[in-house]
Amino acid sequence: MKNLSTRTENMTPSLTVAIDTLAKKMKAEGKDVVSLGAGEPDLNTPTAICKAGIDAILAGKLRYTAPTGILEVREAVSHKLMRDNHLTYNADHIIMTSGAKHAVFNALAALINPGDEIIIPSPYWVTYPELVKWLGGIPVFINASAENHFKITAEQLQEAVTPKTKTIIFNNPCNPTGAVYSFSELEKLSKVILEEDLYCISDEVYEYFVYKGSFVSMASLNGMYERTILINGVSKSHCMTGWRLGYNAAPLAIAKIISKIQSQAIHHPSNISQYAGLAALNMDLESVFSMRDQFLKRRDYMLSRFQQIKDLFIAPPEGAFYLFVSVKNIYGKKTPEGKTISNSSDLCHYLLESEGLAIVPGAAFGDDSCVRFSYAADLETLTKACDRFERGIKNLG
Ligand SMILES: Cc1ncc(COP(=O)(O)O)c(C=O)c1O
Repeated sequence: MKNLSTRTENMTPSLTVAIDTLAKKMKAEGKDVVSLGAGEPDLNTPTAICKAGIDAILAGKLRYTAPTGILEVREAVSHKLMRDNHLTYNADHIIMTSGAKHAVFNALAALINPGDEIIIPSPYWVTYPELVKWLGGIPVFINASAENHFKITAEQLQEAVTPKTKTIIFNNPCNPTGAVYSFSELEKLSKVILEEDLYCISDEVYEYFVYKGSFVSMASLNGMYERTILINGVSKSHCMTGWRLGYNAAPLAIAKIISKIQSQAIHHPSNISQYAGLAALNMDLESVFSMRDQFLKRRDYMLSRFQQIKDLFIAPPEGAFYLFVSVKNIYGKKTPEGKTISNSSDLCHYLLESEGLAIVPGAAFGDDSCVRFSYAADLETLTKACDRFERGIKNLG
């Protein structure tokens, strides 16, 4: 038979999804597994949102919608962007997507020509480089070190720019590091973006989970609105990961291109999910902020436990719900079976096999010296996870 797509053959599957799937499989087989691998809130979708989805089904909202999504839903997004981010987008600037991941795909597909260089601060969310490569672009990484709280500087950005640079993919707050950029840090970066005539894909899915200072959208900086493709959604904020609803907000010319891509690729996200999303967008933010407060307590608990384990280095996260912990001082130690832990993947496999603890190797995010814990889990689960991690590390010799 003829060969299949070579472009796709070279794509690495998502390691976060793989770990989560493996942990779920082990649980289904009756194994005692604690998983902090998944990037999703542990709480259920609020009842009012579920009810809006059920009502949509019963009301027969089961036909095609416009490729960009239902007008009322896009208007609700436009209202949200004004209320929370002081951004003036009308419904024509907004495209509803099947989750924020799909919105990342749309943004890259709208911008990339073969050979374009796409700047990605590293550590990065697993999906960015793979989609860039798949679309014919070249990922160019800027190292955001733990010592600089996992943030890149304007000088680093400047150095990475070449005549081939098209855009930066900017994730604030960041998965996996929890880094949050201040207004003045963003301002410095935006100056380089403007001077070098770049676009900015701004992934803001964790905007409500900021523990220190306040969130600033990159699109709100002087001159950035015209060159930013904003990405957001309801998966994280409203515990709606499985509903698959996100959006792009972009200047009109780009919004039209995205709408064309979407009309040929998926048509539109689920009609039912859009109505459920409408209920989410119209709710006040009380439940979202109460979840953020819970996450803060969980983060502090994890930090207090990990600070007692020697050999770890942690830059305390200021946002999102992940802890990206440097474990490089553990490398070189041996498991009780005599196997040497040489990298983040070895450590994660050892912890899963010996302790039933699922966490994600930092290598998946471009930093092999770290591992990622999601603390979007209840305190009992986090306590078990910390106990297992501590015991697993102690047993290394
Ligand atoms: C930074 C970032 N962007 C986008 C997404 C995708 O979100 P969604 O589930 O809405 O596709 C995730 C999910 O983990 C993420 O961490």
